[in-house]
Amino acid sequence: MLDIQPMLTGDTSHQPPQLPSLPRNPYAYKLHDILQTGQGLVSMNRNAESYRGRWSEVFLQQGMKAAPRSIWVEIGCNGGHIVIDRALRDPQTAFIGIDWKYKQIYRAYQKAIRFGLKNVFFIRADAARLPQLFAEGEIHRIDTYFPDPWPKNSHRENRLLSQSWFELCARLLPAGSKYEFRTDHADYFRAVDAAVSELTKQWTVTHRTTDKHKNHPLPFQLDTPEVTLFEKLFIKQGLPIHELHLQKLPIHRSEEEV
Ligand SMILES: C[S@@+](CC[C@H](N)C(=O)[O-])C[C@H]1O[C@@H](n2cnc3c(N)ncnc32)[C@H](O)[C@@H]1O
Repeated sequence: MLDIQPMLTGDTSHQPPQLPSLPRNPYAYKLHDILQTGQGLVSMNRNAESYRGRWSEVFLQQGMKAAPRSIWVEIGCNGGHIVIDRALRDPQTAFIGIDWKYKQIYRAYQKAIRFGLKNVFFIRADAARLPQLFAEGEIHRIDTYFPDPWPKNSHRENRLLSQSWFELCARLLPAGSKYEFRTDHADYFRAVDAAVSELTKQWTVTHRTTDKHKNHPLPFQLDTPEVTLFEKLFIKQGLPIHELHLQKLPIHRSEEEV
């Protein structure tokens, strides 16, 4: 049996986790205090990276009855509404939500505690740290719903989803895995569509729409997990929802050797 405290705090020397460079954010300190308890469900920054390659074990340690059937990751999970809703419906799958806002991750953690969930985990981190958080083949699905669109031309390089992002995700996911992306922002959608069209050896598009709820009689009545919180707002504003589903293709041996 593993000693759960050092594992969940990411601390192999049996000392409390050292997080010397916390920002002046009260929620960073609240999260730091929770990490000291070693109960799991939440982590942040470099501490979360100590779980790389051990996520199945982490879920077992925090109370899942069997190793997760698969591990899903939502990037930009905000207060965790989609992660929690899905976790309640599918207790054999593990769901990880990542967001860089301390307050939202703290709120997500509180919700997970209230529901007594064992198959969720929330990480306060920049999504760019994905390769430091997960080993290759360790996660089985990635979703990104309504990532910040950075609409100004001069800010576009800040967008998370790009060709290099999908190359990175293709390295992490096994063949057959799904990636779901939604946005209200037509220009961001076109840019992502163009980026993945350059990656035909890694990804195939299984679904593409520029108006997801066009045929729904009362789209403004839709609720989670069918729509996200931001999606509800955009539907109320009459904005069409763009959606892309991708599937990871198998890597052929000859390509791996190149
Ligand atoms: C517009 S909100 C969408 C929230 C949620 N997905 C929804 O649809 O209701 C975008 C979220 O992504 C998070 N985010 C943006 N860039 C991020 C990054 N690089 N790493 C982690 N989270 C990020 C923001 O903090 C915010 O919570």
